[in-house]
Amino acid sequence: MPDQQKNTETVAPPKIEAHNIDLMRSESESLFHVNDFTVHGKGLVLIHGENGCGKSSLFNIISGVFAPDAKHLRFNENGRFNCDKSKPGYLFYPNFIFPGTVRENIVCGRKISNTQYQELETVLQLPPADKQVTIKPENLSLGEKQKIYLARTLLGNSSCILLDEPGSNLDEKTEHSLINYLLKLKEKKLILVISHNAYYDAVADKTYEIRKGMMYQVQSR
Ligand SMILES: Nc1ncnc2c1ncn2[C@@H]1O[C@H](COP(=O)(O)OP(=O)(O)OP(=O)(O)O)[C@@H](O)[C@H]1O
Ligand SMILES: [Mg+2]
Repeated sequence: MPDQQKNTETVAPPKIEAHNIDLMRSESESLFHVNDFTVHGKGLVLIHGENGCGKSSLFNIISGVFAPDAKHLRFNENGRFNCDKSKPGYLFYPNFIFPGTVRENIVCGRKISNTQYQELETVLQLPPADKQVTIKPENLSLGEKQKIYLARTLLGNSSCILLDEPGSNLDEKTEHSLINYLLKLKEKKLILVISHNAYYDAVADKTYEIRKGMMYQVQSR
């Protein structure tokens, strides 16, 4: 099938639902209980919670990095977990760069148009596309690396995007620019964001909080 045709193929809208389950720290210890977590279609869903409460573990389950087995999930009475999505874009840690240009690090062999690349170049103020990235010594700052990870995650045609602390190491101007971009993107895609930053509250369609071993919805628009 020609690539152009592949890119315009309609993908079923993503749907993630969890009812009466626990995310597990180990087979016997719960990280937190989920009574009802249902997100689907498009929009921006924000996840809040203190350090160590299990936010990244939730994304590892949703993305498929963790198997939905007894080590990671406990199904209580009528408990269920369904994750109906194409392969999501996932901004995770620790992440990686490899020797090559900035553009190669972002595109990672995919077919990405110049227009798509240039849009993110502007939004994220990316380092020069032809800059050679080296590993030892690393010639990128933490913020520059974060921009590369973000651009890599945001490019592509996945209908679901998981962003774990997207603003880490970004300056305020870039984070605002990213939020404006997400505001447009959420009209087309389902975006789940983990953030401690209050900036995202204003653009979230749904917010969930994990507190004292429970996940619950705190606000809906
Ligand atoms: N690979 C792992 N093996 C064992 N325990 C882990 C692993 N990853 C995380 N944990 C533990 O699971 C708990 C939840 O970790 P998680 O990374 O999901 O928290 P978080 O809410 O994302 O925290 P933060 O805000 O600091 O990123 C922590 O107590 C952590 O020590
Ligand atoms: Mg985390």
